[in-house]
Amino acid sequence: MNGIGIRRYGGIEELTEIRIPTKKLGPDDLLVSIKASGVNPVDWKVREGLLQADFPFELPLVLGWDAAGKVSAVGESVKHFQIGDDVFFRPELVREGTYADEIVVHANLVAPMPDGLTYAEAASLPLVGLTVWQALVEVGQVQTGEKVLILGGSGGIGSMAIQVAKALGAHVTTTTSSKNMDYVRELGADEVLAYDKGTIHTTTKFSFMLDTLGGESYGEALKLMERKGKVATIISERDAKRPAYVDTLEKEMGLSVMYVFTRPDGKNMNHIRNLVEARKVRPFLTEMYPLTVEGVRKAHSSSQTGRVRGKIVLVNN
Ligand SMILES: NC(=O)c1ccc[n+]([C@@H]2O[C@H](COP(=O)([O-])OP(=O)(O)OC[C@H]3O[C@@H](n4cnc5c(N)ncnc54)[C@H](OP(=O)(O)O)[C@@H]3O)[C@@H](O)[C@H]2O)c1
Repeated sequence: MNGIGIRRYGGIEELTEIRIPTKKLGPDDLLVSIKASGVNPVDWKVREGLLQADFPFELPLVLGWDAAGKVSAVGESVKHFQIGDDVFFRPELVREGTYADEIVVHANLVAPMPDGLTYAEAASLPLVGLTVWQALVEVGQVQTGEKVLILGGSGGIGSMAIQVAKALGAHVTTTTSSKNMDYVRELGADEVLAYDKGTIHTTTKFSFMLDTLGGESYGEALKLMERKGKVATIISERDAKRPAYVDTLEKEMGLSVMYVFTRPDGKNMNHIRNLVEARKVRPFLTEMYPLTVEGVRKAHSSSQTGRVRGKIVLVNN
């Protein structure tokens, strides 16, 4: 495969063209010609070597784990896909990433692309879609009418979470800065708390929270939870340090707190596809760059500001 990635960990100057062998097509695999690749914070965290302890990748590696493209070869046992199908997926976190021309991926991780979406729009959805589905449905079991708090509603995860929570019938409150209040309302948020106007405050009490921020933002938000509520957090200690008081507060409030790390899953991808086709979720792609070394550098610089609204996607020309 020809792609963009790294030969050693470091800053954006380490991004370079990489050629590594495409994995051999197994009986249950698809070969996909990649048309667009989503950009997520995990991409630059891997590039900087921050995840080496958990993911000891062999270098060089091609970055990116979010894609849409066209099936160009099919393993002999694959039943539900054909050459020429448009698909979207989040592959396993392996060294053969999606900032590339092609990838071999297990057919169980893939779903048909939602009708009416461009490749770029479709590539913006898999990783955030899976994370949100697993946090809200599998862990949170969010119900109609439930009061849900989503931290960081304007980011990639937050933009998806607001829409999925609304599709599940929840009453959605989210945090963002003043400049993004209209944006999160347009996505469906019922109540918006601007974190840049002082301590977040509301009389609403929440039975479920999705934490996409960690640190003090998480600690502050815990105080808005109902006793014995549920929390799904996607932030680990390596992403943001937990304030010392958080463990005690979680215990005192009897909260059930689960850490979620995105699992690639074709069945879940089909749930996302259904939500898009039912017009309950719309893509929220805000930045597009070409899949070139320069394009990836711009995309990573933007993602690392922590200020991106919606999603960044790289497009293969
Ligand atoms: N565990 C997992 O499997 C998993 C999966 C996906 C992502 N993650 C992690 O989850 C985090 C979020 O991911 P993402 O893709 O959503 O990131 P992102 O798109 O880069 O998030 C950027 C957004 O965060 C908002 N934000 C920043 N500080 C905030 C604050 N204090 N309060 C409210 N909003 C704030 C920004 O809005 P303003 O400009 O208005 O501040 C911006 O719109 C990252 O650390 C990522 O690595 C983990």
